[in-house]
Amino acid sequence: MLTEDASNSRAIGIFDSGVGGLSVWREIVTRLPEESTLYLADQAHVPYGDRPPEEIVRLTVAAVSWLLQQRVKLIVIACNTASAAALESLRSRWPAIPIIGMEPAIKPASQRTRTGHVGVLATPGTLRAERFQHLVERYANGVHVHTVMGTGLVHFVEQRQLEGPEVESCLQRILAPLNTANIDHLVLGCTHFPFLSDTIRRVLGDGVKLVDPAPAIARRTKFMLEQHQLQKKQAGPSAWRFVTTGDLSRFQKTVQQLVADHLENNDRPVHFQRVHI
Ligand code: DGL
Repeated sequence: MLTEDASNSRAIGIFDSGVGGLSVWREIVTRLPEESTLYLADQAHVPYGDRPPEEIVRLTVAAVSWLLQQRVKLIVIACNTASAAALESLRSRWPAIPIIGMEPAIKPASQRTRTGHVGVLATPGTLRAERFQHLVERYANGVHVHTVMGTGLVHFVEQRQLEGPEVESCLQRILAPLNTANIDHLVLGCTHFPFLSDTIRRVLGDGVKLVDPAPAIARRTKFMLEQHQLQKKQAGPSAWRFVTTGDLSRFQKTVQQLVADHLENNDRPVHFQRVHI
């Protein structure tokens, strides 16, 4: 019998300000079904997008400290806003822990565009960060990057309101500057937004492809586990834990709606919990 550490049965920690990171969680568990996961949503403070960077750093450091107290083996910051503000601080604070961050998928969108114009829909926090400017300078390669701020959209997803006239008219208003921009790709630069994909497609039409970095983050997670020799080595029990700093029953309902397919076709234990961090 292997010891716990030798079998690497500790969970992968996944963090977001709210439920948006579930769009990354579902890709991770599809690719790594044998692994346990611990998903932390800081719903007491969602949305992060309008907060000053120092505050986002403070909240993210507190969340990651909590995940580390739970002995997770690797951390995925499944939040573009928290990654933009805090990734460097996290990595310098905990150099021994593999920490994967998110960034808007400018690189693949710029490689695939035929019109030479791509859109990026993200939170103010992500778009204002220096990290985002560097990303554009490094990867846009002459392609025009049109940014739009998704103010209010995180709230719809947190409220499980993914379609309907209110969401649609909000998206129409937000995406209006892109109507004449000739874009053929829209980068979803916030992990909440893939849950609004159907409504976004309705607003933008079939000519615009949506780019979600979640599958690439799941591949990266698998690669990092292998590189650090942290993959779970036994077919032993695994579990999925979902933890919020906000309202537990609302969180549980939202998780159950957003990732219903994954939870229904699952036989491992699933736990929901509220914590103060
Ligand atoms: N899911 C977060 C992101 O990817 C949402 C940010 C927020 O809380 O405003 O940016």
